[in-house]
Amino acid sequence: MMQHIFHKGTDDTKPTLLLLHGTGGNEQSLVGLAQEIDATANLLSVRGNILENGMPRFFRRLAEGVFDIEDLIYRTQELNDFLTEAAQQYSFDRQRVIAIGYSNGANIAASLLFHYEDALAGAILHHPMVPRRGIELPVLQDVPIFIGAGTNDPLCSAQESTDLETLLTAAGAKVTTAWFDYGHQLTMSEVQAAKEWYDSINS
Ligand code: MLT
Repeated sequence: MMQHIFHKGTDDTKPTLLLLHGTGGNEQSLVGLAQEIDATANLLSVRGNILENGMPRFFRRLAEGVFDIEDLIYRTQELNDFLTEAAQQYSFDRQRVIAIGYSNGANIAASLLFHYEDALAGAILHHPMVPRRGIELPVLQDVPIFIGAGTNDPLCSAQESTDLETLLTAAGAKVTTAWFDYGHQLTMSEVQAAKEWYDSINS
């Protein structure tokens, strides 16, 4: 079980938005962001099960930018299983979940894509990294993915963003990467670009 909030949307033709916060956030952190992207969709917002010095995260890290891969794999499965349980509990379509993740939340969303063929129908990844290297990805044929990256992001180098784009594209995904001349923060212009991308895949 994962601590979460679920809001039923007003338009059942829309996907379910899965919100995944950054380090130190919680299930409330991205609700405003989701309202900007699509206020009519179902919203499932989850709190990461790890605490690092009191800050919620979705998986353990050994140091900044150095992930505990065993825990990453375990937590990715836990989240994937939770999505299946939540779909039954709240009666939403498990095949139509679009993740919106920021930072650590974008990394666990990317990990869902790296480990499971049907975990996500699409994803908005704000400032993600490559979750894991040296594995074969599942087939992600035509899965739409938006990556928002900062040219001056001290946590996620430009190389991380382009490597992630390359790996997801090679697996068949349709990746759109948008660059912003800022650091790790999520700016309104990035949210606007994500919304335009989201509208284009849902029209
Ligand atoms: C991570 O640990 O997932 C990344 O370093 C980003 C973050 O600090 O949340």
